Amino acid sequence: MEVFKVFISLTLILCLLCNCVHGYGSYRSKIPNGNNVPHPCKVNYIWQGVGHRKKEGAGYRNPFGEDFKTAGKVWTKELCQKDSDGDGMTNGQELGDPSCSWTVGDNPPTAEKISHPGICEPWTDPKCQHQLSWLESECEPDKFDCPALQSDPDIKNMTLRFPLTDVPIQDTSYMCTEFEVDSSDDFHLIATEMLVNNTNVMHHALLFGCSSDNHTLRSTPHQCGMVASRECGEIIAIWTIGLSGQCFHENVGFRIGSQGFKRVALQFHWNNPTLETNYKDQSGMVLYYTKNKRMYDAGTFLVGASYLEIPGRTVSLEETALCPGVCTSRFITPEAYIVSATNHMHYLGRVQQIEQFRNGTKVRDLTNDQNYNYDDPSPIHYKTPIKLLPGDTIKTRCVFNSQNRDQVTYFGDATSDEMCFGFFTYYPKENIKMSSCTSWKSLPYCAVYSGEEYLGCNFVEFSSKQGIKMFTEIWQNCSTECTTECLSKIELLMNHACMKGDYYDLMKTSMLRNNPQAGSFFIMLENCQASIPTKATTTEKGANEATTMFVHKFLLLTTTMVISLCGRF
Ligand SMILES: *[C@@H]1O[C@H](CO)[C@@H](O)[C@H](O)[C@H]1NC(C)=O
Ligand SMILES: *[C@@H]1O[C@H](CO)[C@@H](O)[C@H](O)[C@H]1NC(C)=O
Ligand SMILES: *[C@@H]1O[C@H](CO)[C@@H](O)[C@H](O)[C@H]1NC(C)=O
Ligand SMILES: *[C@@H]1O[C@H](CO)[C@@H](O)[C@H](O)[C@H]1NC(C)=O
Ligand SMILES: *[C@@H]1O[C@H](CO)[C@@H](O)[C@H](O)[C@H]1NC(C)=O
Repeated sequence: MEVFKVFISLTLILCLLCNCVHGYGSYRSKIPNGNNVPHPCKVNYIWQGVGHRKKEGAGYRNPFGEDFKTAGKVWTKELCQKDSDGDGMTNGQELGDPSCSWTVGDNPPTAEKISHPGICEPWTDPKCQHQLSWLESECEPDKFDCPALQSDPDIKNMTLRFPLTDVPIQDTSYMCTEFEVDSSDDFHLIATEMLVNNTNVMHHALLFGCSSDNHTLRSTPHQCGMVASRECGEIIAIWTIGLSGQCFHENVGFRIGSQGFKRVALQFHWNNPTLETNYKDQSGMVLYYTKNKRMYDAGTFLVGASYLEIPGRTVSLEETALCPGVCTSRFITPEAYIVSATNHMHYLGRVQQIEQFRNGTKVRDLTNDQNYNYDDPSPIHYKTPIKLLPGDTIKTRCVFNSQNRDQVTYFGDATSDEMCFGFFTYYPKENIKMSSCTSWKSLPYCAVYSGEEYLGCNFVEFSSKQGIKMFTEIWQNCSTECTTECLSKIELLMNHACMKGDYYDLMKTSMLRNNPQAGSFFIMLENCQASIPTKATTTEKGANEATTMFVHKFLLLTTTMVISLCGRF
């Protein structure tokens, strides 16, 4: 491969707006469901500046904003009982506090059927005409504006569209369809435009590049995971509610065609929380590409946490994920430039910050969103690209609020699960040789599965050789009785660096995921170690079979993980 250089930036009008408007955020916690007020004319959009005439906030106030100001910026009974926008519903009814009992910090009495207290609804109703002068522009469909499409005479377009497809009757669906792209020449993809067909369900879309061009093309829509497939795992375009498309910086493009991706997978994230049975969708994405290639090829890179466990009823829980210097020094050569970053959490996400450190000193915040909103994540664009050097540490911090949930929330791809990821677009593509650098609890995958020692443990070696030998021996000898000999063997095992702290949890979790029987092994370990002799629940023969099986599966799992996670070294 020849050396390409890439410079990329997503110029999204909306984001510029989001990034420079402040001031309303803190007020949203002073009214019930303040983060949850829907747009009066765009399905799935949140109106963040509840008291303002523009959805991003700032500028002129709407009638509710005026009344809120008059009330001293406090949720008073009088404000709650008033019908600011004159549509026949009180502010309390619109915001889920019909009996006006809510005070700051409480859970709102209801979070259902919330409507806008400052905009007369339905907005097309004759009684609501008075607000059209300022509302109309907010209700126009999002326009896609990309000047490069006009200035390049060789621009081509290709529409990737799902056939009319039934939306599964489930809360969250990830649906993928693979397409072949125009390979008649060597192209740069320079812009994408989203064509949303069913606004009730469409939540976000990702376009993945496929590394293979000879696997069986999965050309009909099918359910898929967070990543489209093993072959199609490289993110090249992102769309979320609030954006109309992406228009990359004039110096960059994603390589498609004869010298780049010949196939792509379009992934939709559909939401159907009310389990409608008759929803269908045929949304699509337009690719704009040109043979007049730009200076650099772009790449996408992911950081964050691949393990989360958020207890219910918790107002603020902070999780931190590390991409340490030992990792970046291995896969960044000699340097790379970040041009945009997108935070990604789900509905419990409140704050996300990604920091860059060099030689132990903080260089800068790459992102710092103190008021995260899943429905309106604002990508950040760096006018001056940010230099990333081998040895730099990238720390991702996410703060969650689960006070409205009883159950524990885990990491996962459903909307009701959680995430803590940051996506970067960078150049030149070939200067970063990994597509992700995430961590499991405090353990960065790339360090743990590198085959080298990290925090005193060579996890790959331990889990494939020494550790397995010790496990087998202990299981075979000690599952029925905890003798002194067993105890000393167990102590030897437990004193190993690979059985300490989060390594122990990682080992246990990996084994349990593959074989529930492993649970009794760990109980035995823990009990025996506490010097309480126990009787195993399984028979000796059964226990031995279980051991052999889980040790075997564990080896397989470790090998698979090493291959999939370190394949790009
Ligand atoms: C796509 O390209 C065709 C010509 O191939 C052109 O007629 C059409 O206007 C283009 N569509 C857009 C949205 O630019
Ligand atoms: C979008 O969906 C509607 C049904 O809601 C359908 O009638 C229409 O043809 C679709 N439009 C496109 C462009 O696919
Ligand atoms: C697909 O192509 C790769 C090389 O690009 C080759 O190694 C592999 O055997 C091919 N597979 C099939 C099924 O043709
Ligand atoms: C970190 O510090 C060492 C020693 O001062 C220096 O040699 C190295 O270049 C520094 N690394 C970076 C990325 O600045
Ligand atoms: C313990 O297990 C090992 C290996 O499975 C075996 O060689 C050894 O004889 C066993 N010792 C006892 C006391 O059972």
